[in-house]
Amino acid sequence: MNGWEAGTDLLVVGTGVAGLTAALEAGALGLRVLVVTKGAAADGNTRWAQGGVAVVDGEPGAGRTDGDSVHRHVADTLVAGAGLCDEAAVCTILAGGPAAVRALRRRGARFDVAPDGSPARTREGGHSAFRVIHAGGDATGDEVERALLASTGSSTGSSMGSSICSTVGSIGTVPILEHCTALDLLLTEEGAASGLLVLDRDGTVGRLRAPAVLLATGGLGQLYTATTNPAVATGDGVALALAAGATVADLEFVQFHPTVLYTGPGARGRRPLVTEAVRGEGAVLIDASGARVMAGVHELADLAPRDVVAAAITARMAGTGEDHVYLDATGLAGFERRFPTVAAACREAGVEPARDPIPVAPAAHYSCGGVESTVDGRTAVAGLYVAGEVARTGLHGANRLASNSLLEGLVMGTRAARAVAADLAARRLAHRGAALRPAGTPMRAADRDVLQRAMSRYAGVGRDADGLQIAAGLVERPAQGPATPEDAALTTTALAVLAAAAERTESRGCHVRTDFPSRDDAGWRCSVTVRLDAGGRPSAGVELRIGGAA
Ligand code: SIN
Repeated sequence: MNGWEAGTDLLVVGTGVAGLTAALEAGALGLRVLVVTKGAAADGNTRWAQGGVAVVDGEPGAGRTDGDSVHRHVADTLVAGAGLCDEAAVCTILAGGPAAVRALRRRGARFDVAPDGSPARTREGGHSAFRVIHAGGDATGDEVERALLASTGSSTGSSMGSSICSTVGSIGTVPILEHCTALDLLLTEEGAASGLLVLDRDGTVGRLRAPAVLLATGGLGQLYTATTNPAVATGDGVALALAAGATVADLEFVQFHPTVLYTGPGARGRRPLVTEAVRGEGAVLIDASGARVMAGVHELADLAPRDVVAAAITARMAGTGEDHVYLDATGLAGFERRFPTVAAACREAGVEPARDPIPVAPAAHYSCGGVESTVDGRTAVAGLYVAGEVARTGLHGANRLASNSLLEGLVMGTRAARAVAADLAARRLAHRGAALRPAGTPMRAADRDVLQRAMSRYAGVGRDADGLQIAAGLVERPAQGPATPEDAALTTTALAVLAAAAERTESRGCHVRTDFPSRDDAGWRCSVTVRLDAGGRPSAGVELRIGGAA
């Protein structure tokens, strides 16, 4: 068994916006950092983000829409979050946005500019102002990821004990260990996280030690047959953190993006997104007869919060018997230039957006819940930090506001790195020589196809008690063939989502219970939490914590 200690202070798992931002910030603070990722460095979810970064910057030349303010951005976030946001967390994270975006610009990210030279700003669902900055038209995530990866100045490696070790501690670089899967957290006798058990591409298991571990593993879209998420989004961080004794919360709120390119029945895996900014710039949703989908549904019509639009499309599809609707962008001038990524995906599917309404349907997109953390990324487990989609900070509540996720990754990556530095300096973390044991991340795995079909049929937009129970029964069945650590992570995470969804007997935000169709503020202004029971099974409870104002 190989191992790597070499004085590492912080292990970061994941190379998306939150993980890379944390690694760069920690490096700038003088910490010795190692980034671990199960794929190649650029394989994460960040690069698929299209719309942009929601941020209000009061600086001269920041292109601020007249009358917009962080206060309004907070208010929009609270409304979208359907009464479950933590208002203090929302204020802290959104107020950190301008500085985080300035730091990203200093790292080389280039955003699109308006004719006057200020940042171009678009609008998305739930936003009351044009405040979303973007890059490459609709390729914001790609530019963010490019700039961050370039800033790591890193050499990458793919096996333990190789030349990668020589980059540890080198000034101005962040070493990245690619194709290295985190199997389990290593804990001290006192239960503090202090390392990782990992598996490299050659099948070698190794131990990586550090007094702090930051999970920035992204989301769980691969729980479903169709998702905007890439293949790596298998809920790994949720499974790892649960086994270490952390609490997860708000997992029932799986956000479905309303407009994902429909390419025919039975499409599987990552599906191309049609950014909400297309509606922000005037496109409208119609059904096969040409009738508007959002007319009369919400005062913001096609720019209603995402949960409302996804639910309205789902209801219309059920009413018409169709498996998709259309996004009519034929009236938008310069579509190809403004939305090159969407235009290319449409063209590949034989759709010409200037001429044809774009066929779209909702697909799994974002986990609003995750591992419970403070706004500094600390979890209930000493030495374990989280940032980005894997974290539940209280920013998103029951439904994330569009384009708040890249912002959260930037802000929380920075804040978590600073928390690690502070905890190290205050000697709050495990002693480097402490004896370590694996946390015991469950390795039981369902058949992935069975799991994805069960989740899509019974735990998508619209769930009920019977369906959730059927899904849990299907996911509990062990796979007959070989299973991977990712299949095991999906299984634990699916059971956690199902437990949370069964517990919440109301409809709110992204969680639509057909057997409890109303929102119940008297009974449910609280988070459902999930922990592992003694048998390693996710078990839901309720935390009576009132969220921010609706
Ligand atoms: C989009 O561009 O519609 C997605 C942006 C987001 O999920 O925040």
